[in-house]
Amino acid sequence: MQSVSINNLTFDEYLSQQEIATIVAQVAERINADYAGREPLFICVLNGAFMYASDLFKLITLPAEITFVRLKSYEGTATTGKVNMLIPLQTSVKDRDVIIIEDIVDTGTTLKHLKAYLMDRNPKCVKICTLLDKPSRRVADIKADYIGFEIDNLFVVGYGLDYDQKYRNLPYVSYLEG
Ligand code: IMP
Repeated sequence: MQSVSINNLTFDEYLSQQEIATIVAQVAERINADYAGREPLFICVLNGAFMYASDLFKLITLPAEITFVRLKSYEGTATTGKVNMLIPLQTSVKDRDVIIIEDIVDTGTTLKHLKAYLMDRNPKCVKICTLLDKPSRRVADIKADYIGFEIDNLFVVGYGLDYDQKYRNLPYVSYLEG
């Protein structure tokens, strides 16, 4: 098992690079099959999903597009319940097959907000693709269509996920001991 020390904190592997790579390839294969003959528009939710989106998008063999929004609902390890769009959507979703790429679905507040925002703009359909899902924390009525790993109620960092903007650079998913 790998571990990395940053600021005197030790991060052990929770999901290894190999486990992540295997799941990313499986999800890409499913999307390639499900969207055959279509030209989906991926929306990567910044900041947390940038690493997952990058690895996943490389394995998409469709004539796909990718665009980005930046949403913020967390301060430290706590959700604020409010969702701010810090970087707005700059691509039209009208009549498009949209696939949202998210790092983690926790309470579901962020995705509920984003999905409603997109549905108001007349897409053909909107699906959610998340690396991680924490179903035990769900508050909003939201379900992902493509889930990499279902995880316990742990605060995880690495592979794009942060704690106060740090630890996104860990190449695997680790958890912060409380
Ligand atoms: P939700 O709105 O509660 O579903 O939270 C979604 C966002 O909160 C995610 O996109 C993450 O940015 C952040 N988040 C939720 N849980 C974690 C975690 O365990 N580690 C890091 N960020 C998290």
